[in-house]
Amino acid sequence: MTMKPANLASADGVWDHLRLAPGALADDRAIEGEAAIVVADGHVRWVGDRTALPADCAALPRFDGGGALVTPGLVDCHTHLVYGGQRANEFALRLAGASYEEIAQAGGGIVSSVRATREADEDALFAQSAPRLEQLLADGVCAIEIKSGYGLALAHERKQLRVARRLGEAYGVTVRTTFLGAHALPPEYAGRSDDYIDRVCREMLPALAAEGLVDAVDVFCERIAFTLAQTERVFQAAQALGLPVKLHAEQLSDMGGAALAARYGALSCDHIEHLSAEGIAAMREAGTVAVLLPGAFYTLRDTQLPPIAALREAGVPMAVSTDHNPGTSPALSLLLMANMACTLFRLTVPEALAGITRHAARALGLQDTHGAIGPGMPANFVLWQLQDAAELAYWFGQRPPRTVVRQGRIALEATR
Ligand code: NIG
Ligand code: FE
Repeated sequence: MTMKPANLASADGVWDHLRLAPGALADDRAIEGEAAIVVADGHVRWVGDRTALPADCAALPRFDGGGALVTPGLVDCHTHLVYGGQRANEFALRLAGASYEEIAQAGGGIVSSVRATREADEDALFAQSAPRLEQLLADGVCAIEIKSGYGLALAHERKQLRVARRLGEAYGVTVRTTFLGAHALPPEYAGRSDDYIDRVCREMLPALAAEGLVDAVDVFCERIAFTLAQTERVFQAAQALGLPVKLHAEQLSDMGGAALAARYGALSCDHIEHLSAEGIAAMREAGTVAVLLPGAFYTLRDTQLPPIAALREAGVPMAVSTDHNPGTSPALSLLLMANMACTLFRLTVPEALAGITRHAARALGLQDTHGAIGPGMPANFVLWQLQDAAELAYWFGQRPPRTVVRQGRIALEATR
């Protein structure tokens, strides 16, 4: 099933009788009574107290929200959505006692998804990835980041990024592509990791950027992946092309990656279970977002908690994402991640909600257009049949009825 945006009804008109969730408005206003949102040409034209609706809006089509709770469209700011195959076998191996690092060192892990991704052609990859995107969209996601990193060769990285772009067009959802060529060492470069990084910097990244396939650049900086020095070389290549960087940082150990990324003005540092005080200070200085990935923490049965209290204290914005990938986080619900961020990481509910909207948008450089509701922004919002905003993080394993307005279209309608 492919939802074509052209077939979806326009959301232009007045969305009336709404209750705005805390933090929903771009300008941080709080509205006491019921609110209304005016959508024109697919964008928010006005939002405020319904009793103050501008007179010239009175004749527009009406959508009665019936007192629904409204949030901005959700933003999933860290996913590896496009890949071939699955890795349930590794799930079983871990249950039998193997660690993620042991499986990777034995030729499994990321490299086994690389094999399956290389074998799939572009259409097959699209067909495998589309149902996963549909699951995330059903949760109210209106913008999503999709990384490459399971091709690890120019043609295959291109194929992944092209599928990511095609998904965005087919579903009418904002897709930000991130080039993660430095995700793992491809087997043909065994023992020659610096040569591979050369290839990433001199051939792959410039070619894909020239084709308009790269919105940002990421690296997996870790003992089982790439060193700090190699990470910096990729950052320099990105900087030379004017592309923003992000980093898979301090997931399994403290490599000092976050501080390096911050020096390059990174949009975000992600995972960060082993983040140091120095890393936090550098991120605060640079305005880098901390992206928390409770799905990977949970799947790997990690015990090292990210330094939430220190991040909060420093005022570093915290985002929450699925990290959807076949190895460490086969999760397809951003609301479930909000629940887990509260339960496992002790985020407050408002922090978790900001984490899947406002701060997630910032982690993608999309803060002016996504993650909040405000005049001039594309119409991306969700009406929930819920009493209390805390219910968004409270329920798990079910989907409360919702109506999703995405890119100015009614993408999903609640059936009561
Ligand atoms: O975000 N940490 C590295 N990358 C992914 C896992 C990729 C995989 O195992 O396939 C992550 O957890
Ligand atoms: Fe990841």
